Amino acid sequence: MIEFCHISKSFRTDFWARPINALTDVSFQLSSKEVTGFLGANGSGKTTTLKILMHFISASAGEVVYAPELGKTFLEIVSNIGYMPERPYFYSNLTGREFLFYMGSLNEVKMPLLRERVSRWGERLQIAHALDRKINNYSKGMLQRLGLVSILLHGPQLLILDEPLSGVDPIGRKEMKAALDEIHKEGKTIFFSSHIVPDIEEICTSVVVLEEGKVRYSGPVDALLGRNSNKKEGPSLEDMVYKLGKLP
Ligand SMILES: Nc1ncnc2c1ncn2[C@@H]1O[C@H](COP(=O)(O)OP(=O)(O)OP(=O)(O)O)[C@@H](O)[C@H]1O
Ligand SMILES: [Mg+2]
Repeated sequence: MIEFCHISKSFRTDFWARPINALTDVSFQLSSKEVTGFLGANGSGKTTTLKILMHFISASAGEVVYAPELGKTFLEIVSNIGYMPERPYFYSNLTGREFLFYMGSLNEVKMPLLRERVSRWGERLQIAHALDRKINNYSKGMLQRLGLVSILLHGPQLLILDEPLSGVDPIGRKEMKAALDEIHKEGKTIFFSSHIVPDIEEICTSVVVLEEGKVRYSGPVDALLGRNSNKKEGPSLEDMVYKLGKLP
C-alpha cells in the first residue's frame, strides 16, 4: 500500500554544525490490510519517517510511493489516511464532542454519518461518557482515546499512529488494542509506532525495526521469530529485537 524507497533525511540545525542524519537509506513496504508495528529506541527516526510519509517534511533523498488505491492526488491520498501525531493538539476549551464534530466537519463528513461515528467510536474507545466535558479536564489516556476517535471519523483506509498507546493505563491499553484489532478486521491498514514490544507482538503481523535511522528488520513478526504462524512458542519479539540491537 505504501513503499518507502531509499529514504534519507538529514537535519541541519545550524550552518556551521554537522547535519544530523536522522534516516539513512530506509526502505520498507506497508502491506494492505495488515497491522504493522514500528519499533525503535528514542531518536531512532520513527516520527521523522511518519512525518515524511504525511508530507509534513520532505526527505533529503528517496521517495515514498503510494498505491493507486489510496488516491491519485496527494489530497485524495491524505483524505484516506487517519494520522495521529506523537503529541496531538486539542482545543482544550471545547468539549470532546465539540472537538469531534469540528474535526469531522473539517474532513467534510456529513452530519448524520458524523453523529453515528462519534457515537460508535466514542462507545468503542470508552470515551463516550466524557464527551460533554471540556477537554482541559481530560487525563492523558482520555486524550489518546479522543485522538483516536477523531481520526476515525472520515472512515480512512490507512491509520498512521505515532505512539497511540503511550500514557494509557494497562486496562486502557488492552481496550485500545482490542479496538485496533476490530478496526483491522474491518479491512483497514494500520501502521503504528510503540516502545512497548509485547503490544506490537500482540496485535501486529509485520514489524519494522529501526536502529539509529537504519532499518534492522522489516517483514512478518513470525519470520523474525523463526516460527510458523500456528506455533506460539520460541523466543519473544522482545528477545529478538534486543538481539537485533546487538548486531554490529
Ligand atoms: N526538526 C528537527 N531538527 C533537528 N533534528 C531533528 C528534528 N526532528 C528530529 N530530529 C532528530 O532526528 C532524530 C530522530 O528523531 P525522531 O523524532 O524521528 O525519533 P523517534 O524515533 O520518533 O524518537 P522517540 O521514540 O523519542 O519519539 C533525532 O536525533 C532527533 O534529534
Ligand atoms: Mg517519536
